[in-house]
Amino acid sequence: MSRLVVVSNRVAPIDEGKQSAGGLAVAVLAALKKTGGIWFGWSGDVVAAPPSAPSLTPVGRLTYATLDLAKRDYEEYYNGYANSTLWPLFHFRLGLTNFSRRNYAGYQRVNALFASKLAPLLEPDDMVWVHDYHLIPFAEQLRLIGLKHRMGFFLHTPFPAPEILVALPNHEDIVRALCAYDVVGFHTLCDLRCFINYIRFEARGTVTDRGPGEGYYIHAFGRTLVARSFPISIDTEPLVALAAQAAHTRQTQRLRDSLVGRDLIIGVDRLDYSKGLPQRFESFHQLLENYPANRGHVSFLQIAPPSRADVPEYIAIRKELETLSGHINGRFAEFDWVPIRYLNKSFTRRSLAGFFRVSKVGLVTPLRDGMNLVAKEYVACQDPEDPGVLVLSRFAGAAEELGSALIVNPYDIESVADALQRALSMPLAERQQRHQDLMAVLRRNDISHWRENFVNALSKAPYDS
Ligand code: F6P
Repeated sequence: MSRLVVVSNRVAPIDEGKQSAGGLAVAVLAALKKTGGIWFGWSGDVVAAPPSAPSLTPVGRLTYATLDLAKRDYEEYYNGYANSTLWPLFHFRLGLTNFSRRNYAGYQRVNALFASKLAPLLEPDDMVWVHDYHLIPFAEQLRLIGLKHRMGFFLHTPFPAPEILVALPNHEDIVRALCAYDVVGFHTLCDLRCFINYIRFEARGTVTDRGPGEGYYIHAFGRTLVARSFPISIDTEPLVALAAQAAHTRQTQRLRDSLVGRDLIIGVDRLDYSKGLPQRFESFHQLLENYPANRGHVSFLQIAPPSRADVPEYIAIRKELETLSGHINGRFAEFDWVPIRYLNKSFTRRSLAGFFRVSKVGLVTPLRDGMNLVAKEYVACQDPEDPGVLVLSRFAGAAEELGSALIVNPYDIESVADALQRALSMPLAERQQRHQDLMAVLRRNDISHWRENFVNALSKAPYDS
């Protein structure tokens, strides 16, 4: 069996017992344990003089190989091109997208550096699986060194419509770099369509259908590769079991007690402008305005741990949300009830599982999101006998699979308020039916299914010959 080499900007905590390890980390680790291999990426540290060789930590058949970043690389590659250019652009936010040649050069430099550090660790039959927008040029850099390995890429964000992508000064370089892989995976059919439309109409490449669910052959920039959608998912059964246990923890009971019989709406997101948090706060405000019976009877818990805190747009959204939550609480709060509980901190998976279980409504309303695993986690954590209702943005990748949620347009504040009201008053039989339908999707496509599909597609490469 070929070894798997996973490359991602962040490498999951080496200490597996750490509760913060998310679904992706669990899935990638499971794949790596099966095949043996390397997990390669940034250590998370920024230092004055990074060591020239990666730090290697063997754990069983798997080796973690991590590199520190120099301050300048952190600024230009991570804060700069990755998070001030590609992130907003890929989330359709041209108005927030900064273009700078300096950051682009930093992005290419770090990708070349990372590739040169991984190359000596590779064995001839290894399969290289690269993750996310930070590392698009990684395969191109490995191929420049002369490596002929099977290389796959999975994008964890949306892929923008060509009309948006062409605003990027280096759009052709970025797509050419994607075509250096053998398999390019997206979350949704919508993302895949955007990519093949770019290939057809901008790159003047050709696209051949491989049949239902198999994606497309892409012939462009002198290469042939497969592009396909692989909707990422969660580790469904273990999470169902965790939530059933978490329902009885002391922390979950404390949350329940604090509600004194009131209903709870919950949102959990990184503090990011793509998550639609101001619009979500406004929708809750509108619920209290338009359906006053909820005043004093419904609370909204928004958990939003800060993220990318050095990037100006993230500083701005944090300020905006502080003002907005203060304003709504000031307008409606009573001496014994606060409408919005807004928390800038993170919780363990177990705590969140218990919080989801207690909540009547899961409110997941990004303006655009690759998949949004919180939506799937909320569903898996419900009590099947008395499940809560998922209110889900049509612009989350998850909406393509989770059609039995209440699907909303997050820009339409009043209609989200109406959906909240409908969710809060939904009869038990309807809640159970919707929950059953959603769980069938999560059981059919769990994280192992996602990983196996991708690795199988990659193992059949190259598609050139
Ligand atoms: O795709 C978005 C993503 O890279 C996720 O995989 C991850 O959870 C999140 O962003 C973390 O962001 P950062 O590494 O910038 O803190």
